[in-house]
Amino acid sequence: MKKILLATEKPFAAEAVESIKKIVIDSGFEFLLIENYKSVSELLDVAKNANAMIIRSDIVSKEVVNACPNLEIVVRAGAGYDNVDLNAASAKKVVVMNTPGQNSNAVAELALGMMVFMARGLFNGKSGTELKGKKLGILAYGNVGKNIARIAKGFGMEVYAFDAFVPKANIEKDNVKVVGSTQELFETCQYVSLNIPATEQTKKSINKALISKMPKGAVIVNTARKEIINEAELLEMMEIRKDLKYISDIEPDCKDIFAEKYAGRFYFTPKKMGAQTEEANVNAGIAAANQIVNFFKNGDTKFKVN
Ligand code: 3PG
Repeated sequence: MKKILLATEKPFAAEAVESIKKIVIDSGFEFLLIENYKSVSELLDVAKNANAMIIRSDIVSKEVVNACPNLEIVVRAGAGYDNVDLNAASAKKVVVMNTPGQNSNAVAELALGMMVFMARGLFNGKSGTELKGKKLGILAYGNVGKNIARIAKGFGMEVYAFDAFVPKANIEKDNVKVVGSTQELFETCQYVSLNIPATEQTKKSINKALISKMPKGAVIVNTARKEIINEAELLEMMEIRKDLKYISDIEPDCKDIFAEKYAGRFYFTPKKMGAQTEEANVNAGIAAANQIVNFFKNGDTKFKVN
């Protein structure tokens, strides 16, 4: 009997775990679970027997892939799969999938929540500002970007976007203004929301050249990955531009410098929180379990990314 492991260092809501377990068992497979694990060896003790794994931001390195001889499929219950060594997986003929769109509303709500929090001075009791009428630039118009646009328009923001891969007409039909480049987005918008994946091309791509072009009262909103930021140049800009603020759903490596020097101009969630809602956990978890069942029963590889 195939063994399907749910491996989450940051656990799903209990309801999501129960739903995944039910799908796995009702489909005639065995369900394994490891949550809150503290080391790779702890993970491997369970994963070494698995035929399939459902993960979140859990690291599936070459070491992990090679230590699991029965592994046939890994599904990242979420969007970004930069935590999986795709080459190592492909070399062992392990299929890797994600579950696009399933947690994107949760991430978008957090992005807007952090923007309100910052606009109101981190709820410090003093007079803040409103989002209404402000320009928001969305960098990459995927599932999260699209949800951010929808919610931001509800706030009365003027929404812009740039995405090199999405046809202009698809963005414009959401009443979002399309600009011609990343640089133009930064030049135009007081708020910029980063929604690009971390790839070799995008790592450290948010740099001084872009940030320095932002209008007065600039706020960078990062619900993507810390790796896309050039932290040294961001710090340089925080020093030069006293109006610049940075809010992020993942602590940067230089968080201690922010704490020491830029109090009131930053906010970082203590642990990645974007997808951490019951609804997103259930949606992404159920999708992942169904994708694995479909793969084993019908050979379906629809969401394969490697
Ligand atoms: C994603 O890529 O789907 C998000 O960053 C969520 O990651 P998480 O499942 O680790 O919270």
